[in-house]
Amino acid sequence: MRSLVVYYSRTGNTRFVAENIADFLDADVEEVIDKSDRSGPIGWIKSGFHATLEVDTEIEKLEYSPSNYDLVILGSPVWNKRITPAMRTYLKKSNFSNSEIAFFNTNNSDKTQNTFDTMKNLLGGKEPISTLVLSKVLENKKESEERIEEWCGELKSWVPE
Ligand SMILES: Cc1cc2nc3c(=O)[nH]c(=O)nc-3n(C[C@H](O)[C@H](O)[C@H](O)COP(=O)(O)O)c2cc1C
Repeated sequence: MRSLVVYYSRTGNTRFVAENIADFLDADVEEVIDKSDRSGPIGWIKSGFHATLEVDTEIEKLEYSPSNYDLVILGSPVWNKRITPAMRTYLKKSNFSNSEIAFFNTNNSDKTQNTFDTMKNLLGGKEPISTLVLSKVLENKKESEERIEEWCGELKSWVPE
């Protein structure tokens, strides 16, 4: 099974999950980089605002084509109960018709599934084979790793070798 993990991360929680998944599945990794400066308190406010308005953003050139993979795993932080502009933009640009997809999100407390509905809708209703929600990842690294390992086992059983 050829797998690709695609993620956006502002402060490292989603990156931690993405890199762990990649280790367990021996997957390639694409970090979606937002060209908009989202650092510091102003960046935080701007980010929440952009997420709420559900706007796109400019992202850096991508390295991998999802159509070359059996499974593409897509991860975003939750911002104001929504997905991030970078992941929104990536999903709109990419073609997943040849691949199975799976979603994860990271958050502080909102164990919301509605970001997955948004992701699915942006992909024309394509169903993920599985989803994972993780809260406060970097504060709970060990527990997060255990849940990621368990999830990766599940993903392997869903997609043939
Ligand atoms: C602008 C902004 C809005 C956020 N909104 C929410 C939210 O609505 N619910 C929640 O549980 N966490 C929220 N968070 C927290 C992040 O989802 C959480 O810290 C996430 O793991 C960060 O991922 P990252 O470190 O990969 O950027 C928000 C964070 C930011 C920066």
